[in-house]
Amino acid sequence: ISLKPYNTFGIEAKAKYFTAFQSAEQLEEIISDPQLHNLKSSLLILGGGSNLLFTRNFDGLVLKNEVSGIEVIKEDEDFIYVKAGAGENWHQFVLYCLQHQYAGVENLSLIPGNVGASPMQNIGAYGVEIKDVFYELEAFHLGDKAFRKFSLSDCAFGYRESVFKREYKNQFVITSVTYRLRKQPVFNTSYGAIRHELDKMGVKELSIQVISQAVINIRSSKLPDWKIEGNAGSFFKNPQIPNEQFQSLKEQFPKIVAFPVDTQHTKLAAGWLIEQCGWKGYRKGDAGCYPKQALVLVNYGNAKGEEIFELSEQIVQSVKNKFGVELEREVNII
Ligand code: FAD
Ligand code: EPU
Repeated sequence: ISLKPYNTFGIEAKAKYFTAFQSAEQLEEIISDPQLHNLKSSLLILGGGSNLLFTRNFDGLVLKNEVSGIEVIKEDEDFIYVKAGAGENWHQFVLYCLQHQYAGVENLSLIPGNVGASPMQNIGAYGVEIKDVFYELEAFHLGDKAFRKFSLSDCAFGYRESVFKREYKNQFVITSVTYRLRKQPVFNTSYGAIRHELDKMGVKELSIQVISQAVINIRSSKLPDWKIEGNAGSFFKNPQIPNEQFQSLKEQFPKIVAFPVDTQHTKLAAGWLIEQCGWKGYRKGDAGCYPKQALVLVNYGNAKGEEIFELSEQIVQSVKNKFGVELEREVNII
């Protein structure tokens, strides 16, 4: 089966086997099937396919997570706890929250992909990360064939990081995520771009709806629509470096774009580094570096996964040569 409809990069790759599951029980059945035993080394759990790059055909079983359902499981004075199936579309979940006046995810509007992948890399945008609204999740351990709950601290969330990307890589299938949302909103307009957009919109009074709209406007103005130009959002992470290294870079490159992380580290805007190396707007064949946002690599039509990967390799090399900084890929390379 062709995986092209299942990845936002629009890369043509084939899966040897492909099946979907609609419930945790179905997943358990599939995994317990003796026929599957010798396949286990090559299993790929697929959500919306918006953070993947296929560089070859997948010689195993692709398991598409389609567990649906959104329900309020409890509430207390300040919070409402909403459990969502891993296969629910993330932005649809955000819209559900906006509709019910549950606050906390409005800054995360329009991020592609599904609920189940949101804890994988602790998705984030415009000053908010999933960890800020995370309560718990349920996941199925492929080896033990048993379900386990993970609390906030169990997940070890960091910037685009979690245990599921590190020590538990390929071990768990997340089947549902419960978010803790506020009854009374606490608005996060820490990003200058949001304040600027709210001004432009002529907003007099803040609400989760107007913040969501501001985020949607900003995102639409600089990120490519994957339905038209295939992509997986930021291809690389913004590198975090020690302050001393940042100081010496700043002397050499006074205009370098950076943000403080903690007392010892500074985060560099990878988009700026890539742009300075001359890649912004670059295109070879159908693989390119997006003209409005250098951190996003795009497939203009029929690029092969290897071509996108090769371009990313060249970018990593040139940023390393010019700035001495090693870019790390955010996108999962398959
Ligand atoms: P997939 O691409 O299907 O999977 C990603 C990884 O998680 C794979 O390794 C997969 O095996 C694994 N996985 C998926 N579901 C499960 C599960 N249920 N259990 C276990 N493992 C699983 N990300 C941000 O953080 N912030 C942004 O602002 C942002 N902007 C984006 C903009 C665009 C235009 C695009 C295309 C992407 C953007 N992304 C952003 C990246 C992407 O949206 C997120 O990483 C999203 O969470 C991926 O979800 P998905 O369901 O598509 O995951
Ligand atoms: N910049 C440039 N040139 C560029 C791109 C960016 O100079 O081509 C500089 C600009 O100074 C700009 C700054 O970098 O002000 C930051 O750019 P932007 O606000 O677009 O954000 P980003 O750091 O490039 C990150 C996330 C995005 C997230 C936005 C908003 C990462 C890897 N990316 O991008 O997440 O939406 O912030 O919070 O952290 C994703 O993960 O896929 C993603 C899109």
